[in-house]
Amino acid sequence: MRVGVDYYPEHWDEDLWEPHARLMREAGITLARLAEFSWCRLEPRDGIYDFEWLDRALEVLHRHGIQVILGTPTATPPAWLHERYDIYPRDSRRYPLGFGTRLQRCLNHPVMRRYSRRITEAMVSHYANHPAVIGWQTDNEFEANLCYCEVCADLFRQWLQRKYGTLEHLNKAWGTIFWSQEYTSWSQIPLPWVARCGEEHNPSLRLEYRRFASESTVSFQREQVEIIRRLAPHHFVTHNLMGLHDSVDYFALAHDLDFVSWDNYPGGSWTNAGHAELAHDVMRGVKGKNFWVMEQQSGITGWGSVSRRPAPGQIRAWAWQSIAHGADAVVFFRWRSCLYGTEQYWHGILNHDGVARRRYREIARFAEEVNRLSAELDGTTLRHQVAILHSYEQNWALQIQPQVNGLRWWQQVSRYYYSLRGLGVGVDIVPIGADLSHYRLIIAPSWYLMTESDAERLTQFVEGGGTLVLSPRTGVKNELNVCRTEPLPALVRHLAGVEVDDYDPLGDEVNHVRLNTGEEFACSVWADALLLQGAEAIATYTHSIFSGEPAIARHQVGGGTVYTFGTYGEPELYDTLFARILDDVGVQQMAGIPRDVDAQWRVKDGARYLIVVNLANEERTALVPAGASVVLGSVSDGGAVRLPPYDVGIYRVEG
Ligand code: GLA
Ligand code: ZN
Repeated sequence: MRVGVDYYPEHWDEDLWEPHARLMREAGITLARLAEFSWCRLEPRDGIYDFEWLDRALEVLHRHGIQVILGTPTATPPAWLHERYDIYPRDSRRYPLGFGTRLQRCLNHPVMRRYSRRITEAMVSHYANHPAVIGWQTDNEFEANLCYCEVCADLFRQWLQRKYGTLEHLNKAWGTIFWSQEYTSWSQIPLPWVARCGEEHNPSLRLEYRRFASESTVSFQREQVEIIRRLAPHHFVTHNLMGLHDSVDYFALAHDLDFVSWDNYPGGSWTNAGHAELAHDVMRGVKGKNFWVMEQQSGITGWGSVSRRPAPGQIRAWAWQSIAHGADAVVFFRWRSCLYGTEQYWHGILNHDGVARRRYREIARFAEEVNRLSAELDGTTLRHQVAILHSYEQNWALQIQPQVNGLRWWQQVSRYYYSLRGLGVGVDIVPIGADLSHYRLIIAPSWYLMTESDAERLTQFVEGGGTLVLSPRTGVKNELNVCRTEPLPALVRHLAGVEVDDYDPLGDEVNHVRLNTGEEFACSVWADALLLQGAEAIATYTHSIFSGEPAIARHQVGGGTVYTFGTYGEPELYDTLFARILDDVGVQQMAGIPRDVDAQWRVKDGARYLIVVNLANEERTALVPAGASVVLGSVSDGGAVRLPPYDVGIYRVEG
């Protein structure tokens, strides 16, 4: 286990490198990521490379025992390249983006591909045998190549041609007869660019474009990965993902990597703020294994406007939370706050003045702990019995047609996730193609696009004795975003033992459900009236036209159980039902952990470590197993541990 920093020597006078590296080493930092935005220095003119400055920076770091991850610099192509070629992406109005920020490149453009391969090759050949370099980060925070340029349009058409073979097939599959859109030549097929304002393209075309844009990024990255594997086979390759970001299919992107990394700003200004816990589990699920945090918040964040300052202890708590959820390295962004540029106020460990202050000491404390405990914690990972299924394609389809407030993918995942976490259960977030056999309970948010093979996998899981929870809007469409003809939930209606008789898109409107056991809960978003066909109702609606009709059903089938939720309830509904379901399936709920304390087990053969992180700015008491020994933090008194604000404890149980 390691602690690192994101370092930009090119932002600082060279005579500062030595004092910087010394301070890093004194803080216990043993890793640094460099160079991912330095293309204009590495290749100052077309085909002319300059690695000398980076060699000197690496020499300094190496001397201080700091190992280096290098980023390929392709997120920021240099000005001379743009001057020479038009590789700017087009927005949906086919308007070219310009120079001045970053990511101003179409990843499909043959010139971008060529220059990206060339700088990658030059860099990797230069550093393949450098004693400080241990691995590579491809580019930086990839997004799907949602570009509308002519190159993309042509490639999209070729992609469709390969997939569909004939126009007849494509026309039929997409239903292009609607609004007289039947294509008679491939070149007629548009991208989903702005057409008549406010009107939407064919949902099949839109979904295929999202797939294509995601695959374009994956194939761009693959070219770099192949170069690194060929020239530096002993180095690892990773990429810094963005947690709950969803434009690119992270399962596909990560397929080519050794492990994933991600950029974690829990109190920051990005989408994941406030969702670090969920995002960590999503990131661990991408490859079903431990990960790195390549950028961990180390101070105030923001560009034009800024976040609150992390409270004393909070940075360390967040960093331990990363490890608790499966991080094997935590790299802090960034070493020192930059004096200029867009990110002047995205603070690093050091302020602009470069003086080692509170945040430096807090991170040094964390690094000391990690370095001391690393031998013990290395090789541990998380093993859970409950999973939520995740799919980028389902998410895209729901973005294309959100239907009502509340059906959004992460909204659905969050409802289930936080209820389970509140009940003291660890959760994996996995693709449907993962090995599901060791899970006892699986929750499928709206599996809106259902393929035969998805239905088959779910059936196998249930027949093997598993318990499955299905959501509203399951099985509505096929994989091309076309509505199915079978009664809903279509391909899994026999598994669910229900048919959707009628539905009402409630949105923010509130109805209520009453459980057989008497409790009543508010529900909203969507209401499916379920017709029982083998299942039993465990809840019915209490209001409006669906009053008295089944809202939630349970079906005992082939050794397993399927719960079909026809609606979305308030959190207490899930807390109540999941507590019972977890009892039924025999998953132990960790008691005595307050909601704002994050407790996770990292395990290896022979030992289990409970990492408990108090995320609250107040003291909390948590229960740890009797007989556990203290690895870090306060001593347990009769199993109850008092954690000061933002404090952390680690407890070891044998076996
Ligand atoms: C991201 C990027 C970094 C930097 C930080 C802060 O996570 O990867 O380059 O921009 O955000 O803005
Ligand atoms: Zn393009």
